Amino acid sequence: MNRDAAIGVFDSGVGGLTVLRALREKLPEENLLYLGDTARLPYGTKSARSVLQYALQATRILDKRGIKMLVIACNTASAYALDALSETHPDLPVVGVIAPGAQAACETSKSGRIGVLATESTVRAGAYEKSIANMRSGAEVHSSASPLLVGLAEEGWLAGEVPEAVIRHYLGALTEKFAPGQMDCLLLGCTHFPVLAKSIEKIAGPDVALVDSAHTTAIEVEKILGANQLRRSGGGQIRFLATDGVARFARVGGVFLGKPLEPDQVELVDL
Ligand code: DGL
Repeated sequence: MNRDAAIGVFDSGVGGLTVLRALREKLPEENLLYLGDTARLPYGTKSARSVLQYALQATRILDKRGIKMLVIACNTASAYALDALSETHPDLPVVGVIAPGAQAACETSKSGRIGVLATESTVRAGAYEKSIANMRSGAEVHSSASPLLVGLAEEGWLAGEVPEAVIRHYLGALTEKFAPGQMDCLLLGCTHFPVLAKSIEKIAGPDVALVDSAHTTAIEVEKILGANQLRRSGGGQIRFLATDGVARFARVGGVFLGKPLEPDQVELVDL
């Protein structure tokens, strides 16, 4: 395996850029190759079979370009495709975002009463309930499917009356599953949601700590690269691929990355 090869990262759209940003901060010397499967977004409303097929195809594109490691920067794809991708690519270290997200929530929650906002498919898979149960016995976990938040995030519509009304609706459905005032941690179980964190925080109130997978995923990636002698030195490059709408990807992607992204920095690819 070539140390200078990039770490491949994919998501259905721009959401995984929240993970890419954390990787960049933690591992600035690494080359990163990001694929947003914008032609088939959203993944979160699709069947297990479709998500698995999309994840295999996205990985094939990245793998063809010679990556040294794969990060599934999508909770939905992590829930349905992590095992299959590890089996089909035995030589490629593969990391998903569910276990790192569960770990962040377990470390943060004092009461062990953890709410999860995620896509419909991630909720259907019971992904966070299972992962948190493995890490913290006795935890109480409830999830709420919040599909409209993906659309708002892809639109870059992050604050104001409309996002707040949508967040209030989903959070209301979630908090009523707990005894009043008991949920002390809210896990953003979709990589699109951290850009809405300020608005979510405003509705959730000061007694609920927000966590997501980005930082803990970057720590896991660092560990795996180190264990496999795959760390490189020098300045890393980032390349972007999208399966549709490069101008749109660049415009909204800039919001996720916190710095402008030009359309000519994004290559259009077919799966
Ligand atoms: N960002 C993805 C996730 O973390 C999915 C969004 C979508 O395509 O529905 O689940």
